[in-house]
Amino acid sequence: MAIRAVLFDVYGTLLDVHSAVAREGRALGPQAEAVSRLWRQKQLEYTWVQSLRGEYRSFRALTEAALDYALAAHGFAAAAPRGALLQAYERLDAYPEAAALLADLRRKGIRLAALSNGDPDMLETGLRAAGLHNHLDAVLSVAPLRIYKPDRRVYELGRQWAGVDKAEIAFVSSNAWDAGGAAAFGFRTFWVNRTALPPEYDLPNTATIIGNLQELDFLPA
Ligand code: 2OP
Repeated sequence: MAIRAVLFDVYGTLLDVHSAVAREGRALGPQAEAVSRLWRQKQLEYTWVQSLRGEYRSFRALTEAALDYALAAHGFAAAAPRGALLQAYERLDAYPEAAALLADLRRKGIRLAALSNGDPDMLETGLRAAGLHNHLDAVLSVAPLRIYKPDRRVYELGRQWAGVDKAEIAFVSSNAWDAGGAAAFGFRTFWVNRTALPPEYDLPNTATIIGNLQELDFLPA
């Protein structure tokens, strides 16, 4: 079946979440990579815990709390470049192949949207700064739902936007847990496994595994 719309996860899929520390993390020295990984891991954990508790705090607030934890855990509480890292998070780098791929898919007449945990203004600013905003037909945030992925209501928001059958919608994420949620919802799911991580969430059976976004170029419109 032809693909009529593609939904993209943003953080980790279109935007490189580790580019903030890469740009502003010099003061973290050899621990920079570990801080960046823990920052991301805690940010995600906080989204899941909030959702399970039936509570909601903005993605920006959770991102700040996660950075504070990651810095403290590595002994950087006082001296860390907290402000610069948070500013950099608002303007993350796009993956190098992202803009060309979005432009190619659009030329084929496929409608494109971001579907993300990010706050609406974070997504607008970040996608614009990365040069991707113009390539998208819509930017969808979980904020109006006050619940985070992988709650099914988030994927349903994407389906409603696309207005076609789930089987005609591709969902693209580099986050295995997100790809797993989208596949369980019924989207044609593509897991971008950039660093050859071991498969999980039954993705070998429920999704197509690709190494980078450019591999989506084959999508039939
Ligand atoms: C996003 O929704 C999960 O990073 C994630 O953009």
